[in-house]
Amino acid sequence: MRHLLSVILRDHGYEARSVSNGEEALKELAARDYDLVLSDVRMPRMDGLSLLREVQRVHPDLTFIVMSAYGTHDSAIEAMKAGAYDYVSKPFRPDEVVLVLKKAEERERLARENRRLRTELAGEYGAGNIVGTSEPMQELLRQVRKVAPLKTTALLHGESGTGKELVARAIHELSPRASLPFVAVNCGAIPGELMESELFGHVKGAFTDASRNKKGLFAEADGGTLFLDEVGELPLGLQVKLLRVLQEEEIRRVGDTRTEKVDVRVVAASARDLSRAVKEGQFREDLYYRLNVVGIHLPPLRDRPEDIPLLARHFLARGARLRPDAPVTGFSAEALEAMKAYRWPGNVRELEHAVERALVLCEGPEVREEDLPDELRAPRAPAAAPPDGDLSVKRAIRAVEEQLIRAALERTGGNRTRAAELLDLSYRALLYKIKEYGIAG
Ligand SMILES: Nc1ncnc2c1ncn2[C@@H]1O[C@H](COP(=O)(O)OP(=O)(O)OP(=O)(O)O)[C@@H](O)[C@H]1O
Ligand SMILES: [Mg+2]
Repeated sequence: MRHLLSVILRDHGYEARSVSNGEEALKELAARDYDLVLSDVRMPRMDGLSLLREVQRVHPDLTFIVMSAYGTHDSAIEAMKAGAYDYVSKPFRPDEVVLVLKKAEERERLARENRRLRTELAGEYGAGNIVGTSEPMQELLRQVRKVAPLKTTALLHGESGTGKELVARAIHELSPRASLPFVAVNCGAIPGELMESELFGHVKGAFTDASRNKKGLFAEADGGTLFLDEVGELPLGLQVKLLRVLQEEEIRRVGDTRTEKVDVRVVAASARDLSRAVKEGQFREDLYYRLNVVGIHLPPLRDRPEDIPLLARHFLARGARLRPDAPVTGFSAEALEAMKAYRWPGNVRELEHAVERALVLCEGPEVREEDLPDELRAPRAPAAAPPDGDLSVKRAIRAVEEQLIRAALERTGGNRTRAAELLDLSYRALLYKIKEYGIAG
C-alpha cells in the first residue's frame, strides 16, 4: 500500500517519502521539511492519533490527513477532532487521494496569502504610525520589529507623551496576535481594591457589589495583548498576583476556587523609573524582572530635535480636517525654529496639541510663530531644578545659556550684534557659543 501510494503521488508531481510507523515518521519530519503527512490510523509502535498529537505539538503548520479502513470510521472522526485536516477511507481510488491533497494545498496557499497580506497591513498601519527618522527612533523601531513576533513581555519606559501606548499598539499590530484583541488598562486610574476584579474578573457574590459574574481584562485579551499602563501604580498585593499569572498563565477570578488558562501577551509601561521604585521597595523586584524581559526606552523629544519638524508636519496633515476650506500647508521658518528650540516637557503629546491649537488660530496658509503657545516664544526663566533630576550645575548652565541665546536670536530676527547686546556677551563669545551649541544661522 505504501509503495502504491508513493507511485501515485510521484505520478502527480509530489515528492513523497514513506516510513512504516509513527516513530519513524517523527524522525523523518525532524530531518526534512514537509508540507503534508498522510497517515494510517492503526500502525505498530505509535498509532496515527498519537502521531497526529505529536506532530501538532512540534510542527503546528503541517497539514495532516488520516486514512482509515472501513469500519474504523470513529477513529477518523476522532482524528478530525484532534486537528487532522481531512480523512480518506480505505479502500480508495487514486484520484480520491489526489483530490484531498489538492484541497489541502489550496488551503495552505490561502493561509500563506493571508499571512502575507497581514504582514503587509501591519507594515502600513502598525509601526507606520510611528514617525521619526532620528537614530534613537530608528533604533526603537528595530527593537519593536524584533520583539513584536515573540510572546515575551516587554516593559516600555519613557516620560509622559513619548509614545508608550503607540508603541505598545505597534507591537501588537506586528505580532501574530494582531487579529485578536488589544486591551489597554491604566493601573493608576482604577482604585486598588477594584483592580483585582478588573484584571482577573469575579464570580457572583464574591463581594457586596458583585451581583453577577464578570470577565476580567486578562480573559478579554485572551489570545491577544494586554497593555498594563502605569504598571508601577499597581498595589504590592496585586503585584504578587500578577507575577503568578504571568508565570502560570492561568487566572483565578475573585471569589472563585477554580483557575482558567489564558494565553495573553503582556506589554507594560511606566513613566516612573521602575528600577528605582524597586530599590525603594515600592515595586517587587521579581515582577520587575519578569516584565522587563525586553526593556524598551522611549527617548524624550528634546533628545531628538531632528524629529520635531517631521512630527509637526505629520500632525499638521492629520489635523487638515479641522480646516477643510482654508488649508494650512506648512510652518514659517521662525515657527519651526521656535519648535526646535523648545524643550517639550510634555513630549510628542505636547507638540501634537501645540500644532492642533496653531491650526485653529492660524490665519494664513502657514503656521506662524505667534500661533504657537506662549511657552515656546518667551525666553524662559532659568529653571531652579531641572525636571529630570540631573543636578549637574555645568549641564544646567549650558542648557540655560543655549536657551537664552536662541531666544535672543529669535527676538532680534537673527541679528547677532543686537543679540550679543541683549545677552550681555561679547560678539566673539556669542559667535563661539553659537557654533558650540550648533545653533543654525
Ligand atoms: N513617534 C510618534 N509618531 C507619531 N505620533 C506619536 C509619536 N509618539 C507619540 N505620538 C502621539 O503622541 C500622543 C501621545 O502618545 P502616547 O499616548 O502613546 O504617549 P504615552 O507615552 O503613553 O504618554 P503618557 O505617559 O502620558 O500616557 C499620541 O497621540 C500619539 O499618537
Ligand atoms: Mg499613555
